[in-house]
Amino acid sequence: MTPLTPTDAAGNAALPTWTSGLWPAPAEALVQPRTASRPERRIVFEPMLESDLDAVQAVESQAYAHPWSRRHFHDSLRAGYPAMLLLSEALPGEVVHPARADGRVLLGYMVAMPGVEEVHLLNITVAVAHQRQGWARFMLDALALWSRGQGAQWLWLEVRQGNAPARGLYERCGFAQVGVRKGYYPAGHFQREDAVVMSLNLVVAAAAETTR
Ligand SMILES: CC(C)(COP(=O)(O)OP(=O)(O)OC[C@H]1O[C@@H](n2cnc3c(N)ncnc32)[C@H](O)[C@@H]1OP(=O)(O)O)[C@@H](O)C(=O)NCCC(=O)NCCS
Repeated sequence: MTPLTPTDAAGNAALPTWTSGLWPAPAEALVQPRTASRPERRIVFEPMLESDLDAVQAVESQAYAHPWSRRHFHDSLRAGYPAMLLLSEALPGEVVHPARADGRVLLGYMVAMPGVEEVHLLNITVAVAHQRQGWARFMLDALALWSRGQGAQWLWLEVRQGNAPARGLYERCGFAQVGVRKGYYPAGHFQREDAVVMSLNLVVAAAAETTR
């Protein structure tokens, strides 16, 4: 695997500046979930802020056996990494959990780390109640678009070997397995779990899209 290069040869920070205005998704869009029985939602991407972390943490701890801590999110925001929320207006009668001051539904979020000509996906999570409706693919498509717009050629990520839904998602989105990191993740009871390293060639993926 090509290592991430957060600094250039002289040791200077070489991270592209994250500008939320460059996010490629429409400011607001009506999207039909892939599950036919679900009504369409008015969705929007918004940058994750410190003030969102209570809600993010609530989703995170429901979604993972080994969730990120608040500190992980805090450090990512401080580092200026792209961190986006996927929000929706509540549907009529929908109980919004976790509650947000603006009453909107937090469908999911992702955090990425830009490198030189590559972007490393650090976290992608869909709230348990909203899984299997296509939101993760929607977020990954948006991340791929944004990454291309930043001049990146590759998307990288690690995923737990035993995380079948996530591995299915990445394969569905065209990622290929390129390696394994032995014992990369804690797995409780002093155990470790391997990470599968996956990458997506954004140039090849874009070319394939245009010939489709
Ligand atoms: C992995 C995760 C992000 C998928 O989100 P999602 O919105 O439910 O995924 P989508 O509905 O966009 O599904 C896209 C594809 O992923 C795969 N997939 C998603 N959930 C799956 C599951 N439970 N079992 C098998 N494959 C699954 C399928 O290939 C699916 O395509 P299909 O519906 O056409 O078969 C979500 O399950 C999640 O947040 N899990 C907990 C956090 C996590 O593991 N994040 C990844 C860390 S590396």
